[in-house]
Amino acid sequence: MFHLLSFTLVLLLLIVAAYLLRAKQNLPPSPKGFPVIGHLHLLKEPVHRCLRDLSQSLGPVFSLRLGSCRAVVVTSSSAAEEFLSHENDVVFANRPVTTMYAYVLYSNTAVSVAPYGDHWRNLRRICTAEIFSPAHVRARRVYLRRGKTEFKNTMITHLLTLQESQPEYYTDETIKGLVLVMLFAGSETTESPDGTKQHPPLLIPHASSRDCKVAGYDIPRGTWLFINAWAIQRDPKVWDEPEVFKPERFHCEELKIQHGKFLPFGIGRRGCPGMGLAQLILSLALGSLIQCFDWERDEVDMAVDMSEGKGHTMPKAVPLVAKCKSSSILDNCFI
Ligand code: HEM
Repeated sequence: MFHLLSFTLVLLLLIVAAYLLRAKQNLPPSPKGFPVIGHLHLLKEPVHRCLRDLSQSLGPVFSLRLGSCRAVVVTSSSAAEEFLSHENDVVFANRPVTTMYAYVLYSNTAVSVAPYGDHWRNLRRICTAEIFSPAHVRARRVYLRRGKTEFKNTMITHLLTLQESQPEYYTDETIKGLVLVMLFAGSETTESPDGTKQHPPLLIPHASSRDCKVAGYDIPRGTWLFINAWAIQRDPKVWDEPEVFKPERFHCEELKIQHGKFLPFGIGRRGCPGMGLAQLILSLALGSLIQCFDWERDEVDMAVDMSEGKGHTMPKAVPLVAKCKSSSILDNCFI
């Protein structure tokens, strides 16, 4: 009986101490939540729109409790830049450890979800040297122009050679994880014709590796960070006529000035390493489709339905149907 009483007393003291500690911290604002589930009941599909709506009453940086996890949601370009660049870049270079990634991405060892550290650095170095190096990108451009595909086995051959010399590190799982991420991260995202509007609406979640202060708020260690890139790319305070298709605003020179505003590929250490390759393939594919074919829609007078479908990369709900016929420029290619 005495033991039970003292246990209850200690538990109560711990709860009060945690409450007082939290009251002293300046945490980002948060909506009213429930015990245990926190704010999970507030999240509705599509999540990026739901988070944008919450930010309209709570501000551009707010916090949520998702069961036992504390999360911060960012919906302004200036706050996104503050979280992901300068000294905070390294603090938020971690990824949350989740059961889902543990099952589908080889125990959180794949490059996109690996914790920030030597293993992640090594995988990223392999990607950079084997896939994204300027020499490989140039070679790929030449191969693509000539319609050849022999280059595709280079990375796997290299990884298998490494496996022979260091079998305990370059396990089948590590190699499969790298290939899977390259296929998954590289295909669905690049497939969409306008990477600047149809991109992953939320960046892959980041996680803080220590307590820090950002945008005036205390952010405890282990907090998940959601950057709502979809909302930032459509913020009328940042972009002139945000819903209008103006590709010239993403011109390279403009982007240098607008660092932090252009988020389809993320920024900082965990930003997309495939950005250069994706832009190269996108412009080649789009240029070829426009130059080599004449396009026609059945419903000429109807505006293209741009409503969002479900999925990680926000595909179109209604696919665009169009007929194409090869243009005269292609005749010269087959002579
Ligand atoms: C239009 C095409 C693409 C878009 C919009 C895109 C977007 C993104 C975004 C938003 C992230 C997360 C950034 C963050 O968490 O801060 C990411 C990460 C990543 N992307 Fe891409 N991506 C594209 C193409 C590619 C391609 C072609 C590849 C490789 C073949 C690739 C490989 C990766 C990898 C490995 C990561 C994880 C980086 C890390 O955690 O260290 N992506 N991408």
